[in-house]
Amino acid sequence: MSSDNVIYFDNSATSWPKPRETGEAMMYYLNDVGANPGRSGHSRSVEAGQIVLNARENLCRLFNVKLPQQIAFTKNITESLNCVFYTMLKGGDHVITSSMEHNSVMRPLRHLEKTGVIELTVVKADCEGYCDPDDFGKAVKPNTRMVVSTHSSNVTGTIQDIAAISRAVKAKKDDIIMVVDSAQSAGAIPVDVPAMGIDVLCFTGHKSLLGPTGTGGVYLNPAITPEPFMRGGTGSLSDLEEHPLFMPDVWEAGTGNPMGIAGLGAGVGFVLNKGVENIAREETALNQYFMDAIKDHDMVKIYGPMDAKRKTAVTSININGMVCSTVGEQLNDACGIMVRTGLHCAPGAHRTLGTFPEGTVRFSFGNFSTKDQVDVAVQAILALADYAAENKED
Ligand code: ALA
Repeated sequence: MSSDNVIYFDNSATSWPKPRETGEAMMYYLNDVGANPGRSGHSRSVEAGQIVLNARENLCRLFNVKLPQQIAFTKNITESLNCVFYTMLKGGDHVITSSMEHNSVMRPLRHLEKTGVIELTVVKADCEGYCDPDDFGKAVKPNTRMVVSTHSSNVTGTIQDIAAISRAVKAKKDDIIMVVDSAQSAGAIPVDVPAMGIDVLCFTGHKSLLGPTGTGGVYLNPAITPEPFMRGGTGSLSDLEEHPLFMPDVWEAGTGNPMGIAGLGAGVGFVLNKGVENIAREETALNQYFMDAIKDHDMVKIYGPMDAKRKTAVTSININGMVCSTVGEQLNDACGIMVRTGLHCAPGAHRTLGTFPEGTVRFSFGNFSTKDQVDVAVQAILALADYAAENKED
């Protein structure tokens, strides 16, 4: 299907289109730089190193942190979260998380629980996907080592009050490590690491940070001493056969993805230039417009907050009497509207919302989504809902 006919509302899976600058930075690296950053002393390697450093610096500005070396790059947020859990959690540790988490959080934590390494408490969100910060505080035990929360749900967009969660748990035990999954929030809404009491911020590059797939990373509070997840060459301390223990090298074994990081740095640069508050304002307005246009139809059910300011630009719906994958197919085939249906790799979130195991039809808007595109989606949904009403079995 030609790009002209595509209405892409699957930005929570990966953002599209990207700013022109993202692709240009990648092509520049590929065609005119090409070398391995941090490995050699020649000018191309130095330039590649500068490109990677620029990306770290842009991320520091976006997350309001000071030290670029505290940001390590990974291939995606799943790798970031696994790296954090498997290196920082030890036998007997207690971890608190929420019922709204993606499998990138739940699967490694459930594995650590099942193998007897950790004890896990799951705080239940309300029917809009919101967790009461006090419930995290109440779950703290003497052996609680880590609290892990998504900032914004990939199913409903519901934004958690991370600062209040961090305050609630640290008031009980001040050495708890606050880990945040910012997959859906970084680049879409402000993420202020110190103001939100975050110790470890895991991010992905290919969603609202507008970089390519294959990029992600971790910001680590410098007060925490990291341990390696993988070991190998880093270009530093090459006389030693032991892996370095300092950031970012400790979590960057082997040659990374400088072409992707060049694109990520440019994507974050675009976000900084436009201003994350402006991005949030535009996407929130579009999401509210969408919800308001479909909410009164008897056959349409919207899940999560009805106030778009309480969520990122994601709206999950169902049309009564229609299987969600059929709705997705109809939208794609008839109108070129691309959405994600089903469970969105977040079964716990769907159990919380009462949409397990069928799932929902998820519309996720992005930087380049327009009101005209939303109007086409609204007409398509209302037509499908009318059809469902006409064919309803009494
Ligand atoms: N986690 C991504 C999503 O929500 C892939 O679609």
